[in-house]
Amino acid sequence: MKKQLLIFGAPGVGKGTQAKLIADKLEIAHISTGDILREAVSKETEMGKLAKVIMEKGELVPDNIMIGIVRDTLKEDKCSNGYILDGFPRTVKQAEMLDEILKELNSNDICLINIEVDNKLIIQRLSNRKMCTNCGSILSIDAIEEPERCPKCKAVGKLIKRKDDEVEVIKNRLEIYHNLTEPVLSYYKKKSIKIISVDGSKTIGDVNLTILRELKGYYNI
Ligand code: AP5
Ligand code: MG
Repeated sequence: MKKQLLIFGAPGVGKGTQAKLIADKLEIAHISTGDILREAVSKETEMGKLAKVIMEKGELVPDNIMIGIVRDTLKEDKCSNGYILDGFPRTVKQAEMLDEILKELNSNDICLINIEVDNKLIIQRLSNRKMCTNCGSILSIDAIEEPERCPKCKAVGKLIKRKDDEVEVIKNRLEIYHNLTEPVLSYYKKKSIKIISVDGSKTIGDVNLTILRELKGYYNI
């Protein structure tokens, strides 16, 4: 069975952190719609210029743009062995369109990983997050021993704070998550898909072990 995973949860629950680990372990593609948009912003494409303003406010990029990105990406060769989709779907409309895309691809078997963390811890984590623009690592400032040096790839001067990680923007993202994205979970609960729910307040390693244990029961891995 082709591995088609969705990783779901509020901003800062650890979707990107876990998606990278799972993608490496299962040898599948990690497709992060946030990363795709941030790349477009840094390349200053037309879509990037539009997305930049929206993302800095913590709002959602229009559904039609996101659906187009995902439709094109899932047809790429890198997804042929399976993928983990991180940050999509984020509205019920996006979830409905994903169903259509999967029908077009003749593969509608999906598994959703739902990570849960309370808002207080989320705000703390996102306020402490850094990203390495050289290797793409997601870091917490506690894990950075030498200021300015990425502990993973060792590059110097490439660590940045995301503009949407300011407290006021984080609060806006959480509100939008509650209003527009949480209903996506109810949408999937009504369908007969596999849903793995995990407490994301545990350590990165523990969360990962729990997810992999559940996935083993579902896929032959
Ligand atoms: P996106 O990039 O998807 O951001 P997000 O959903 O807000 O989530 P984050 O990336 O902030 O958090 P995460 O859950 O990945 O946590 P992470 O692993 O980094 O989207 C950004 C923007 O793009 C959106 O606001 C929107 O504008 C736009 N967009 C994207 N997709 C869209 C769509 N489909 N439709 C419309 N618009 C879209 O971890 C966070 C921190 O916690 C890190 O420092 C990490 O080291 C740490 N950490 C992680 N796990 C643990 C742990 N277990 N213990 C301790 N620390 C941990
Ligand atoms: Mg992320």
